[in-house]
Parts: sequence; C-alpha cells; structure tokens
Amino acid sequence: MTVGVVGLGYWGPNLARNFAELGVLSHLCDLDPELRATFAARYPSVRVTDSFEELLGAEDVEGVVIATPVPTHYALAKQALEAGKHVLVEKPPAMKGAEIDELVEIAAERDLVLMPGHLLLYHPAVKKLKELIDSGELGDVLCVYGNRQNLGIVRTNENALWSLGVHDLSVILHLLDEEPEEATAHGRDFLTPGVEDVVFCYLRFPSGKIAHMHLSWLDPHKMRRMTVVGREKMAVFDDMELERKVTIYEKAPWKRAETYGEWQTRSGDIHIPKIATDEPLKLECQHFLALVGGEGDRAKVARDGAMVVRALERLTDSLRG
Ligand SMILES: NC(=O)c1ccc[n+]([C@@H]2O[C@H](COP(=O)([O-])OP(=O)(O)OC[C@H]3O[C@@H](n4cnc5c(N)ncnc54)[C@H](O)[C@@H]3O)[C@@H](O)[C@H]2O)c1
Repeated sequence: MTVGVVGLGYWGPNLARNFAELGVLSHLCDLDPELRATFAARYPSVRVTDSFEELLGAEDVEGVVIATPVPTHYALAKQALEAGKHVLVEKPPAMKGAEIDELVEIAAERDLVLMPGHLLLYHPAVKKLKELIDSGELGDVLCVYGNRQNLGIVRTNENALWSLGVHDLSVILHLLDEEPEEATAHGRDFLTPGVEDVVFCYLRFPSGKIAHMHLSWLDPHKMRRMTVVGREKMAVFDDMELERKVTIYEKAPWKRAETYGEWQTRSGDIHIPKIATDEPLKLECQHFLALVGGEGDRAKVARDGAMVVRALERLTDSLRG
C-alpha cells in the first residue's frame, strides 16, 4: 500500500518524512511550485503534483494524508473518501459538527479509515495516563485539567481555542472516553479583534467528571501540562520536563473512622515512571497504516475525532455567545 501527502507547508513535510521512512510514500501534492520543486529534489522516486485529482486518480494510492490549512480539511477529506481512499487528516478534521458527522458517515458507508491527526494521543506520556486511568490505579477520576500557556506565538487568524485547545481537548476526551454534556468557554480578544488570546474552558461529562483548559499566548509561564485528579492517586503529564514527563502522586482525600466522617488528606510516595522517547508522529503514522491494514477499530477512531469537533464547535458557540 502507498500514501500521498497533500500540503507541504510547515507540518506536511514531517508527515512526508515519516511515511517515506516507513517505505510507503508515493505521491506529494501542493499548489506552491517552489515547494513542489524542493520536495521533488528531496524525494526523487516520488510523484510530485499540483493536482489533488491526479493523486485521487492514482490507483496505487490507498491512503491520503491531508496537511493543508484547516478551512480546506472538510472538502478535501470528503473528496478523498468519495474517491475510495483512506484518510488521515490533520487536526481539526473539520470546523463544524455537521461536517465531521457527514465525513464519519461516508467513511462508515465505504468502510474507510477517517483518522484525525491528534498527535498528542500518540505521546507515550498520554498513553501512560490512559493506562493509569483505565487500570483503576488512580481510582475514580474526578477531574482533569490542561494548561497550555506561553508568551507567544501570537496568532492573528486562529484563536487560542482552535490553535492550542484542539490538542488538550483531544487528550481530555480520549482519557475520559465520554462526550461532554456541557461545554462552556470564556475568553478575550486583547490583541486582534475577533481572535481570543486567552480562553478558559469548562467541560462537564455525564458521569459527573469535570475538566478545564487554560489556553493562552499571553502568559509569563510556558506550560504544557495535563493533570488528572483521582480518588486514590493523582497524575501529572508535564511536557516541559525532559525526564519527568509523568509524575504520580499518592495523594488523596480519605476519612479516618475515628474522625466521625471528617475529610482528611493523605500524602504518600511520589513516583516517576520511565516514559519511552518514541516520536509521537511516527507512532501516529504507524497507527494509520495499521488501521488501513485492518487492525484496530477504525469506526471508533472516526467517531472519537467527531467528538472533538463537536466539542470545539460548542465551546466556540459559548465563547461567542
Ligand atoms: N499536529 C501538529 O502538531 C500540527 C502542527 C502544525 C500544524 N498542524 C496542522 O497541519 C495543517 C497544516 O498546517 P501548516 O502550518 O503546515 O500550514 P501551511 O500553511 O504552512 O501549509 C499548508 C500547505 O498546504 C498547501 N495547500 C493549500 N491548499 C491546497 C490544496 N487544495 N491542494 C494542495 N495543497 C494545498 C499550501 O500551498 C501550503 O503549502 C493544519 O491543519 C494544522 O492544524 C498540526
């Protein structure tokens, strides 16, 4: 099987490199002639074109990888699915809930892979958090919150929710495996009218769990952190740490029998598990190939992607409301 990558701007070349290393890259496509010339020289055995239709017409191409600007994702993904191709589309795969629901339906009807490029889901530290939750080690999860703050990069065409929040939202929904019943956001556009620089989000899930995201490029701290609070233990994934990516705290609330129901807190050991340093993008590309090859649950991957877009849409409505 082979894949074609569409969009060779900032991110597409990373996808192209990984698929080339995995030995399946056959086509590259971009509208920009300079980029086409650069990549034709870098990958002499790969067909480089400006025509998405040509890529879709190539019978040996089974998978199409879309790394074009966000507003183009829905239309290109739809065209690729309708041409019978499996699709890996960069995040977010669509801008509206109705659009992603339509893509999920087309993929299901044709039994094709529709995988969103939620890179953080392939980070070994996120995998560790998921294991800690699913194995019950943390006890019942009460709340999860993400911090994604820094001073800059100031975006002017995408707000902090769409630029930064997609990552944390995909992780929170993956960890809790539930669709939020409440999704509200507050923020302000301090620098560019209509583009929120600071956004606070609140999510509430049917199980009663709650989540929060602080997203900002106007902040003194550079933070890339996800905290999971369980009834038995608490865990933190800090992507700014080199060696201590995940820290597990034996901290919890508890009631001593002799205190007649009064809440106390308990602080025990702090544990730092070893986290593999595998490149998340390589794992993401391998997962796409595995799904195309029939492994895993391709329908769930598409549905999970849709859950992220729907939550994003609700948060956006709340922000603007
Ligand atoms: N997962 C991550 O960590 C991560 C990081 C950066 C960007 N991204 C995502 O990657 C995508 C691309 O972002 P970018 O920063 O590389 O954008 P970019 O603007 O640098 O590159 C986009 C490229 O797509 C090309 N293009 C546009 N429409 C096209 C079409 N119809 N056919 C062929 N080529 C077309 C443009 O010529 C351009 O070269 C976005 O969805 C973004 O969210 C993901």
